[in-house]
Amino acid sequence: MSMEPGKTFYLETFGCQMNAHDSEKVVGTLMQEGYRQVESVEEAGLVLYNTCSIRDKAEQKVFNRLNDFKKYKKQGKKFGVLGCVAQQQGAQIFERAPYVDLVCGSASYRNLPQMLVQLETGHRATGLDDRLTDECFETEFTARTNAHRGYITIIEGCDKFCAFCVVPYTRGKERSRTSDSVLAEARQMADLGYTDVQLLGQNVNSYSDPSGKKTFAELLRAVGEVAGLKRVRFTTSHPRDFGRDIVEAIDSTPTLCDHVHLPVQSGSTRMLDAMQRLYTREQYLERIVWIKAAKRDISLTSDMIVGFPGETEVDFQETLSLLDAVGYDSVFTFTYSARPNTPALNLPDALPDAEKSRRLVVLMDKQKQISLVRNKKRVGQTLEVMIEAKNETRKQWVGRTSQNMTLNFTAPEDVTLLIGSYASTCVTAAFPNSLVGELVTETQGNPHGS
Ligand code: SAH
Ligand code: SF4
Ligand code: F3S
Repeated sequence: MSMEPGKTFYLETFGCQMNAHDSEKVVGTLMQEGYRQVESVEEAGLVLYNTCSIRDKAEQKVFNRLNDFKKYKKQGKKFGVLGCVAQQQGAQIFERAPYVDLVCGSASYRNLPQMLVQLETGHRATGLDDRLTDECFETEFTARTNAHRGYITIIEGCDKFCAFCVVPYTRGKERSRTSDSVLAEARQMADLGYTDVQLLGQNVNSYSDPSGKKTFAELLRAVGEVAGLKRVRFTTSHPRDFGRDIVEAIDSTPTLCDHVHLPVQSGSTRMLDAMQRLYTREQYLERIVWIKAAKRDISLTSDMIVGFPGETEVDFQETLSLLDAVGYDSVFTFTYSARPNTPALNLPDALPDAEKSRRLVVLMDKQKQISLVRNKKRVGQTLEVMIEAKNETRKQWVGRTSQNMTLNFTAPEDVTLLIGSYASTCVTAAFPNSLVGELVTETQGNPHGS
């Protein structure tokens, strides 16, 4: 590995966990090629954006950023656009932002080393895949940003084609890694001291082991049994492919966290049909019944879209009533944004923006009340947290529960807790988005210990 001091890069990441984790792989790959990561655009020779295109605002953010930074081009810096906007816009990015040197979608990151050489010789480089690629971006050079919790990709791409969504066009077709390779990575992380891993995919339930050895639920159990791991999470689940076997796996494997993120999008079967989500309200609620029948108290979270073309007040009321029917701990809410290439793009959309915003506020307010009521019931419970940080101004430690909630807690001043270790806490107060508590005992002093 050459260590030329001149080869520096700055990388900014937008979007979802898949992008965050891709960036860790990209950083590792670049470092392997002799590049050094720097913290500002000013210091960097190569400026990279790993972009998101899920809603129009996310895409605009990227082009605004490129515009702002155009001035740096004169200083000889090179610019690269990675990720979902890169794959979606392709070479058109060069027209809109002529100073960009590299455009590369996620299915082509394995070719980054060659593309970097091309850049160094003063040429533009493009890495774009059609939807047919079978390649995964597996690399041993992942540069994880957190020493205690980390992501593992198990499946890339998406074959669902929900009517509103760009992902099938920006991330290609579904392709799974072998269970052996996932397990090897999990073991390697455990050996490095990681105790919390999150299995990633746009739709983890359609995981299909190329070696035919394991179903998704079996993979979950196997990762959950890797020595050293204390918490195993997975995201995102698609309701259509969510099977009872996942609930059984959680019930019988203590390390599998008691949290399922199950995006519903709408509570109206008519809307779900228009969105091509492939399930009805009733089928969704059936899965909720399975999850609630578990022996453990599994926390439920979701994503919802308001204002999809054709959504009536009646449809919206069904979304609201679903909140009561399920009892989510939290919900990510969005107003519909028309996206390029998607089936919904040209649907007549008569609903005024003001009405979409109103519905969003009503939905958010209702969920906030539900979250608060649910969290208040947790007051008095003893919960184990992974310690993530200390908030010096508030004199509180920041912890995360198995149910993926933030729990801010106090500890006696003479107690020093290690980031990444675990502690038992007692919940003393509740907010809609977090819990407050007190330290009971440290349950695992040294996360890197034996
Ligand atoms: N694979 C996941 C979701 C990935 S995108 C799933 O199937 O649920 C994350 C969330 O963004 C989606 O759940 C959806 O609620 C939201 N979203 C996606 N496309 C959108 C669009 N065009 N407008 C508004 N929200 C959108
Ligand atoms: Fe998008 Fe639907 Fe695929 Fe999720 S399942 S990534 S919402 S197309
Ligand atoms: Fe955005 Fe691409 Fe993720 S569009 S949400 S970064 S898959």
